[in-house]
Amino acid sequence: MSLIDFNGISVPNIGIGTWHMGSDSSNYERDRDVITYGIQHGATVIDTAEMYGSGDSELLVGDAIKELDRDKIFLISKFYPNNATEPNLSRALDGSLKRLDTDYLDLYLYHWRGSAPLEKTVSELEALKQKGKIRHWGVSNFDIDDMQELVSVPNGKNVFTNEDLYNMGVRGVEYSLLPWQRKHNLPLIAYAPMDEGDSRHHNIERNSILQKVADKHNVSVYQVMLAWTIRDQNTIAIPQTTSKKHMLDNIAAGKIKLDKDDLDMINTAFPAPNHKTPLDII
Ligand SMILES: NC(=O)c1ccc[n+]([C@@H]2O[C@H](COP(=O)([O-])OP(=O)(O)OC[C@H]3O[C@@H](n4cnc5c(N)ncnc54)[C@H](OP(=O)(O)O)[C@@H]3O)[C@@H](O)[C@H]2O)c1
Repeated sequence: MSLIDFNGISVPNIGIGTWHMGSDSSNYERDRDVITYGIQHGATVIDTAEMYGSGDSELLVGDAIKELDRDKIFLISKFYPNNATEPNLSRALDGSLKRLDTDYLDLYLYHWRGSAPLEKTVSELEALKQKGKIRHWGVSNFDIDDMQELVSVPNGKNVFTNEDLYNMGVRGVEYSLLPWQRKHNLPLIAYAPMDEGDSRHHNIERNSILQKVADKHNVSVYQVMLAWTIRDQNTIAIPQTTSKKHMLDNIAAGKIKLDKDDLDMINTAFPAPNHKTPLDII
C-alpha cells in the first residue's frame, strides 16, 4: 500500500472491510487473525458498523486489535439511521466503543441517510467530537444532493469523508459526485472495491481486457481492480478478505501504478458514465 493524505491525516490507501465477519464461530479465529495480520502489514484503516452481524463484527475487530497499538489504527464504525439523533446516538456510540473495547473512534459514519434533520445529527456528532469519543465524523451512501445539503447546515463542512460503493463495474459516482467531492477536498472511501469478489454482479474478474492488464503487471485481476479504484490518490479502498494471501495481495495492490494505456483499456471494457444515475448501494 501507499500512504495518502486523508484530510491532513496520513493513512494507507488500502484498508480492511469486515462485513459478514464475526458471527460464524467456525471462522471466527481465522477472520480475527487475518485482520490482525493485515494491520501488522500496514492496512491500518478498519471499517466496521453496529449493523454488521448486529455487533459481532465490532466484537471481532475489538479482539483483533486488542494486542496492537491503538494509536496506529484508524478505526471506523457506523450508526444506523434510526440512531442519528440523541439519546440514541450516544447510546449507539457507547455500544460500538464497548464492543470494540476502545475509548474513541477515529471516524464515525452515518451509515445511510434516514429521516432525521441533518442539522440535528451534525450538531450532535460535533458534540461527541468535543467529548473526545470520536475524532471525526462522516457519511456513507450519500449522493451529490445529500452532500450539497450537508455542507449547507452549520458545521456540515466538517464532514470528513463519504463512503460509497465504487468499483470498475459501478462507476456512477464519477459522473457528478466525485468531481464535487474533489472540488471540496473530500476524499472517498470506496466500499466493495472488488465488486464483492466473485461473479455475483458483473463478472469483472472474467474480463479478458482486465486479465491483459493484470498479466502486464504480473498481478491478479483483483489487484488491478483495487489499484484502479484508488488511482486518484484521494480514495481509500476497504476490501474484505478471509485469506492472509489475499490480504498481502490487496496491500501490495496499493503500490501498483496503472498507466494511460491500462486506463484506456479499462475504460473500453468498463465505460465511465455519461449521464447521472441513482446512487448504487449494497
Ligand atoms: N458503507 C456501506 O454501506 C458498505 C456496504 C458494503 C460494504 N461496506 C464495507 O466494504 C467492505 C468490502 O466490501 P465487500 O466485502 O462487500 O466486497 P469486496 O471487498 O469488494 O469483496 C470481498 C470479496 O472479495 C474476495 N477477495 C478479497 N481480496 C481478494 C483477492 N486479493 N483475490 C481474490 N479475491 C479476493 C473475498 O474473498 P476471500 O475472503 O476469499 O479473499 C470476498 O469474497 C465490507 O466488508 C464493509 O466493511 C460498506
